[in-house]
Amino acid sequence: MTYVVTGATGPFGRLAIESLLRRGVPAGEIRGIGRQIEKAADLGVEIRKADYEDGDALRDAFHGASKLLFVSGSELGRRAAQHANVVAAAVDAGVELVAYTSILNADTSTMDLADDHRATEKLLTESGLRTVFLRNGWYYEVYTAQLATYLEHGVAGAAGDGPISAAARADLADAAAVVLTQEPGQGVYELAAEVFTLADLAAQLTEVSGKPVAHVPLTGDQYREVLTGAGLPGEVADIVVGIDLGIAAGNLASSGDDLAKLLGRRPVSLREALAQ
Ligand SMILES: NC(=O)c1ccc[n+]([C@@H]2O[C@H](COP(=O)([O-])OP(=O)(O)OC[C@H]3O[C@@H](n4cnc5c(N)ncnc54)[C@H](OP(=O)(O)O)[C@@H]3O)[C@@H](O)[C@H]2O)c1
Repeated sequence: MTYVVTGATGPFGRLAIESLLRRGVPAGEIRGIGRQIEKAADLGVEIRKADYEDGDALRDAFHGASKLLFVSGSELGRRAAQHANVVAAAVDAGVELVAYTSILNADTSTMDLADDHRATEKLLTESGLRTVFLRNGWYYEVYTAQLATYLEHGVAGAAGDGPISAAARADLADAAAVVLTQEPGQGVYELAAEVFTLADLAAQLTEVSGKPVAHVPLTGDQYREVLTGAGLPGEVADIVVGIDLGIAAGNLASSGDDLAKLLGRRPVSLREALAQ
C-alpha cells in the first residue's frame, strides 16, 4: 500500500502525514508531494517534488500510489487548471482512492473560492476514480492567527451574523487520515466541529482572555478600507471581503456531525483552540 499526500510541505498535508504515522501506517508506505520539499524533510517519509503545473512530474510522483490525499492548492486563479493536472495524473497512475480537500457546501456555495472546488469535484466525479470529498470547514487557525489584532482592535469583519462552521486544522487532517486508512467508502463529508458567528468569537475571546473584545460589524466597503489601510493589497482585500460576504450569505453553514463521526471522538472546540 502506498499513501500519497500532496501539499505535504504545508501545514495540512504535514498534519495528515503525522496522523497517518500515528495511526500505524509505516513510514515506508507514505510519500509526500510538494514544491518546497525541504519544508517536509523532517517528516521521515519519502518526499518528492512536483508542481501542480507539471503533469509529467505529477505522474512520476503518483506512480504506484494506492491512495491519494489530494490537498487543494493555494494559487487562486491557477487552481482549476492545476487541479485538472492532478486528476489526470491520478487517472494515469491508476490510484484506487482519491480523497480531495474541498470546501463546505461546494455544490451550492456562492463564494468565489468555491468555484475551483466545484470544478475539481466535477472532474473527479467524471474521472471514474473512487473519490471522497472532504468538504472542510474553516480552520480555527484562520481566526486564532489574528488574536493579537482582535485583542487590540476587536473582531472586525463583514460577515454579519453569518454562521462560520469551523474546526481545528489538525482535526480535519486527522479525519483525512481516517478516510485513507479506514475505507469509509466513496462519499461526501461536510466537516466542521462547531458553528459560531464573529460576535460569538468576540464573546468567547473575552471570556478566555479576561479582556473585553468587541465585535466590530462592518459593511464590505468599510472592511475593504480597513484591510487596505492595514497594508493588504487590494486584490487580497477583495478575496477576504468576499469570504466574509459569503459567510454572511450562509455559505459556511453546516450542522452535521460528519467530523465527530469520522474521528470517533469529540473534535477540539473553538474555546479550546482560543485558550491554547
Ligand atoms: N479551510 C480553511 O480554512 C482553509 C484555509 C486556507 C487554505 N485552505 C485550503 O487548504 C489547503 C491546505 O491548507 P494549508 O493550511 O496546508 O495551506 P498552505 O499553507 O497554503 O499550503 C499549501 C500547500 O499546497 C502546496 N501547493 C500550492 N500550490 C502548489 C502547486 N502549484 N504545486 C504543488 N503544490 C502546491 C504548497 O506547496 P509548497 O509549500 O511546497 O509550495 C503547500 O504544501 C490550501 O492549499 C487551501 O486550498 C483551507
